[in-house]
Amino acid sequence: MLKLSEPTLLRSQNLIDGQWRDAGLGARLAVTDPATAEAFANVADSDAGDARLAADAAAAAFPAWSRRPARERAQLLKRWHALILDHQEDLARIISTEQGKPLKEARGEVQYGASYVEWFAEEATRICGDIVAEAVPGRKLLVLKEPVGVVAAITPWNFPLAMIARKIAPALAAGCTVVAKPAEDTPLTALALSWLAQLAGVPAGVINIVTASREHTPGVVDAWLADSRVRKVTFTGSTPVGKHLARESAATLKKLSLELGGNAPFIVFDDADLDAAVDGLMASKFRNGGQTCVCPNRVYVHDAVHDAFVERLAQRVGALHVGPATEDAAQIGPMINARAVDKIARHVEDAVARGARVVTGGKRVRSADGPHYYAPTVLVDATPAMELSCEETFGPVAPIFRFRDEAEVIRDANDTPFGLAAYFYSSDIRRIWRVAQALETGMVGINEGAIAAEAAPFGGVKESGYGREGSRHGLDDYMHTKYLCQGLLG
Ligand code: SIN
Repeated sequence: MLKLSEPTLLRSQNLIDGQWRDAGLGARLAVTDPATAEAFANVADSDAGDARLAADAAAAAFPAWSRRPARERAQLLKRWHALILDHQEDLARIISTEQGKPLKEARGEVQYGASYVEWFAEEATRICGDIVAEAVPGRKLLVLKEPVGVVAAITPWNFPLAMIARKIAPALAAGCTVVAKPAEDTPLTALALSWLAQLAGVPAGVINIVTASREHTPGVVDAWLADSRVRKVTFTGSTPVGKHLARESAATLKKLSLELGGNAPFIVFDDADLDAAVDGLMASKFRNGGQTCVCPNRVYVHDAVHDAFVERLAQRVGALHVGPATEDAAQIGPMINARAVDKIARHVEDAVARGARVVTGGKRVRSADGPHYYAPTVLVDATPAMELSCEETFGPVAPIFRFRDEAEVIRDANDTPFGLAAYFYSSDIRRIWRVAQALETGMVGINEGAIAAEAAPFGGVKESGYGREGSRHGLDDYMHTKYLCQGLLG
């Protein structure tokens, strides 16, 4: 079913200390097709013992790796970047098959993930400290940036390549070594990526990948949380898991980067360019079938443009092609699993029961291709009483809330514990600055729906977490600041 031009990319063992190994207890984890839930491959189902071996390897590799000149680390990252692009088609097929992302988007994800590797290869050579003006004669005050040490990266299933790339690349650029656990639904992409890193010449122990089932994941992660050699945890996923990691990391005071849940508002003001707003919503809401942390979850449309906007949006959404992810025509693939599609159906049923109206979609589709397809949906008359206004739906559903007043919509947009991304469309420059500053999120798209880029700081505020990925700030998160004070110079 999964045919690759380079079959060695399909790995099924852990990568620990440069060796491909089975889990210590020999257990296996089935990798399933998200459309049908049928197994098509299997990988190691690791436990705490495997996690400790990975941490041993990363700790042993750290001194030599952190002392390698930045230029050498950069060259290895550049080689890795080139290999990722050389294998773009195979990697995209792996992503599509294990995650259900339409092939065209999966190719885009390979480019997107690779862009972080290239960016951090370049940033590695620009790590700079400071020489501070001395307050006392005869003393020099110097500030150095040093790698934090071993990093544990725990990555989600929705971007199986880009999320692990944007954690491992800055870690390696800074001089850290890594233990990583990809999501149980999508381990194959992470293994393929680390195989390419090995081919690029990344030394043994610098990247270690341990795969595990949902049942064994707590054992693996807790082993790293308890290990004082692991100095940083970087995680993308749900807010409850992020809070657990923060609590458990406290015992050894690890540095943390947490990219957690969203619940993004998308606001269309009455002075917006409506066609641009529809384009922006299509790009941000329906990317990856709506399974994206920065996806708009609540769409607020001004009363004066509401009906025109809904009509244009519904036409575009109704025309989206739903189908198996590896078919070229697919624009919306299957949802990741039964839990995901059940949640979408529950949100839509709850909204309809509380007065929302389905304009298009609103049901499961293509049951002959598998049970996990859901029709791209537009709902109107959404209200804050509905489940989908407080919880991320993580699916192709755009609920429209009508509003009349700027202050009211800002209050509603901010009325959530989350603060990852927000979007708004307006052509009034004064309003643009006012609203951009009033929105309580880490990222704001202004007349733009596609905001993620390797050069930009990605991350949230409030219960969407802390730390930034990408940009120069993304490298800082993997380093600490050391101050040297040298006397007897006068
Ligand atoms: C995410 O959904 O967590 C990441 C999305 C992105 O990088 O755009």
